[in-house]
Amino acid sequence: MLAVETRNLTKDYDIKKDGKRAHLRAVDGLDLAIEKSEIYCLLGPNGSGKTTTTRLLAGILRPSVGGARILGLDVVEDASQVRSIVGLLTETPALYERLTVRQNLTFIANLYDVPKEEIKTRIEELINLFDLPEKIDLPAGSLSKGMRQKVAIARSMIHDPPVIFLDEPTASLAPESAKVVRDQILKLSKLEKRTFFLCTHNLFEAERLSTRVGIINHGKLISEGTPTQLRDLKKDETTTVFRFAVWDDVIKNFFQERNYDVLDINPERKSISIFIREIEKETPTIIDELIKQNFPMFEVRHEYPTLERVYLELVMSENLPRNQEEEES
Ligand SMILES: Nc1ncnc2c1ncn2[C@@H]1O[C@H](COP(=O)(O)OP(=O)(O)O)[C@@H](O)[C@H]1O
Ligand SMILES: [Mg+2]
Repeated sequence: MLAVETRNLTKDYDIKKDGKRAHLRAVDGLDLAIEKSEIYCLLGPNGSGKTTTTRLLAGILRPSVGGARILGLDVVEDASQVRSIVGLLTETPALYERLTVRQNLTFIANLYDVPKEEIKTRIEELINLFDLPEKIDLPAGSLSKGMRQKVAIARSMIHDPPVIFLDEPTASLAPESAKVVRDQILKLSKLEKRTFFLCTHNLFEAERLSTRVGIINHGKLISEGTPTQLRDLKKDETTTVFRFAVWDDVIKNFFQERNYDVLDINPERKSISIFIREIEKETPTIIDELIKQNFPMFEVRHEYPTLERVYLELVMSENLPRNQEEEES
């Protein structure tokens, strides 16, 4: 059974445009199939439909067309069951500022019908998991923004949900807190087979964390795959950098005589960047020859395209006409 499955998932919002009723297609025919214990990252620019997708999947927004199942449960027919088996961190979570962290967590645990005798242990577990300090008995309002976000993430998991939706979980976190959150997500998916669905802008995070990435633009999925598969879309743009202890223009000649595409020469850094068509085959040959010629080479490095480069290119090349706003007659 899939953790998340959607078919033609579509959401139109009613809006007013030039004083007339209209609708805006925020999510447009998404077909997703996410296995248990995956960490799926939905990437996309602002307004591309990430938050709407998350809300549809968490059973708090009704699809206009199509549908979705979470662990086999229909997000419309079985909405209340869906809400009980999913965790949701919203984009701008709010805590009860005057309640302590512990009271906040206890309150939500009761809402989710966590058995009374389990609440205390569950809270302790989450506090340890997310490295929340002794501040647990202070009013939530007195905590830093980052700390509140960690409490909100812990809160989304209070009822031990097998499927967890996190909408930009680390956007407001300092690097060390973001790392704690990332590490715990990895741990929870590996050891406890929980499924995570993350919306993020952070490509570094997506690259580190995700089993698969989906790129969404104007509500449509425009690309999907493992980070490696996505990076491989631009594999032919890999460059190779050679660095030397001492620079000499004969090095340049060496590459030019052999008709390599020289992309950059930097005498100050004593480096030259070239494009090699068949990296695996040609690189060892070049290294051999450079050594034979006694060039004092000390570094060879391939610069592979990053997920960021692939993402930016995919999103920016998408100049789809914005025909998603249709007037109602
Ligand atoms: N409640 C709403 N009413 C009308 N339009 C909305 C509403 N929520 C979001 N939208 C619009 O839907 C589109 C997708 O928004 P959203 O899902 O928030 O995208 P993202 O999370 O990727 O930034 C945007 O054009 C946004 O303005
Ligand atoms: Mg959003």
